[in-house]
Amino acid sequence: MAMDWRKNQVPDMSSNMLLYGDNALWLPRLPDECADMIYLDPPFKSDQVYNAIYGGDDPLLNAQIQAFDDTWRWNSKVEEKFRADLDAGVFPEDLEDQMRVWYRRLVLTKAQVKKKDQTARESLMAYLVAMAPRLVEMKRILRPGGAIYLHCDDSADAYLRHLLDALFTESGFRNELIWKRTSAHNDPKRFGRIHDVIFYYCKSGGEVTWNPQCQPYDPEYVKKFYKYDDGDGRGPYWRDNLTAPGVSNGDAGEPWRGIDVSAISRHWSAPREACEQLGLPKDMPTRQKLDAIDAAGMIYWPDKPGGMPCRKSYLKDKKGVPAQDVILDIPPLKAWSAERLGYPTQKPRALLDRLILSSTNPGDLVVDPFAGCFTSIESAEANGRRWIGIDITYQGIAMAIDRLGKLEGCSDYRVLGSPTELSAAAALAEESKRQFQEWVVLGLLSRYHAIPSPSQGADGGIDGVIPLRPLMGSLDKDRDRCIVSVKGGKPKALDVDEIIGSVTRHKAQMGMLVLLSQPTREMVKRADAAGRYTAGDGKTYPRIQIATVETLMNGTTDDDPELPGF
Ligand SMILES: C[S@@+](CC[C@H](N)C(=O)[O-])C[C@H]1O[C@@H](n2cnc3c(N)ncnc32)[C@H](O)[C@@H]1O
Repeated sequence: MAMDWRKNQVPDMSSNMLLYGDNALWLPRLPDECADMIYLDPPFKSDQVYNAIYGGDDPLLNAQIQAFDDTWRWNSKVEEKFRADLDAGVFPEDLEDQMRVWYRRLVLTKAQVKKKDQTARESLMAYLVAMAPRLVEMKRILRPGGAIYLHCDDSADAYLRHLLDALFTESGFRNELIWKRTSAHNDPKRFGRIHDVIFYYCKSGGEVTWNPQCQPYDPEYVKKFYKYDDGDGRGPYWRDNLTAPGVSNGDAGEPWRGIDVSAISRHWSAPREACEQLGLPKDMPTRQKLDAIDAAGMIYWPDKPGGMPCRKSYLKDKKGVPAQDVILDIPPLKAWSAERLGYPTQKPRALLDRLILSSTNPGDLVVDPFAGCFTSIESAEANGRRWIGIDITYQGIAMAIDRLGKLEGCSDYRVLGSPTELSAAAALAEESKRQFQEWVVLGLLSRYHAIPSPSQGADGGIDGVIPLRPLMGSLDKDRDRCIVSVKGGKPKALDVDEIIGSVTRHKAQMGMLVLLSQPTREMVKRADAAGRYTAGDGKTYPRIQIATVETLMNGTTDDDPELPGF
């Protein structure tokens, strides 16, 4: 686990929060039973690396950047962590038993298993060793009666369900939702895999919040059943029963308009919607209610003498079909969906709206520990819920900030977990070079709208690109851009030569070198020698600029690199 340089950043439960970093660090800092609902869409154990897509038509900007890695390996570090968790009693008894069984079957029992299969089994165990303690923490922060939704697919769903059963007990289980996540396709030598699974459990001991959500009726169904219309402005209706099963000894069991329904073991029932619409008192005898409903023209009488009257059940009064456990009406995001942000595995807002509206009330707290591009958080905010979203990548945090900024009237929130002092920036660089570069590009350089760019392979030395704002008279406005290179280690004069090379190679106008330490004199000299760039506004700017993380963190515009248009 990463060094905890975030330890001084304490969650403040009075505000909504975006938490940057491993949820294994953040979840233990949240109070017991604070969350009303948890939605988690963790890596599925898909054995894939996921890329986010940035940029537009410009080949340099149109980059695929690794968002997260969903590959798992069993090694001595993972085994040590597992043993330490067992020794520390992290797992409740049922879960510990389950983990030991899996450890024996997936890791220790190697007889008669092909090497490839054994590697797959161990990789699965590594995944479970990562998921189990996090789920224990999630249970701790969930209030009694609170809901947890775990989104996964068939890669490890059977194991995740066992984990949830062991933690929330079998009686905590409420649904296995199936969401059709993609359109039909051809998976060689098997059926097309087109669905995700969402397990819904509740923690025992408290009141469960349930607000049924409805889906619109199938048009075919409406056409078939709502086929009557009296032309009185109430719209189409179908003819529904006015009686309910069972004999009643009260008023509802007496004959009405000469019809005795007790004879067929039923009693009269006044439709609730009609009573509410007519404002009939609850304690009014049933047959008087029926008289009032009939007087309002809301009962159908057959022409045939002795025929049973029916209630007119109007389409306009119906909310639709209560949502079911197979979700076919929320389509996956397509490449051209307006909602799409380029983040892999992004879920549709409508799916999160359905879960959050079902299981929470306004003001409730929703926690998403694997928030990705924070769809759940956007949904929680838009629906008046409080929220905490956690993600280990700065890409996710940057997308959340952007997304929330576009929501009208978005409530205040805090971002925790990004470095607030130079020593923390150095610790982040030490912990993960890639995360450090992303934080600089998407965080510190967000005021220049910098976007990340691949730093590997042919584009070595490029960590980000700043599309320079077109200025009046700019001759080549589509191509004006500044290449960014971020160096977390000891800076050297060659870094300047390298960025000059990248600027030239990519026909960019400017280059910016961002350093964790102060540049050497030689670096400054070489940068100065690279000359100046004349922008469309006629002003000139140093072609190569050197900025330090410290000055960018201070945020004083005087020290900021000077770029045309900003
Ligand atoms: C499947 S995606 C979530 C997608 C999300 N539901 C959405 O609609 O955008 C999983 C996310 O979990 C994040 N993640 C993986 N391991 C994590 C950890 N240990 N702590 C916090 N976030 C983690 C990844 O960075 C990734 O963004």
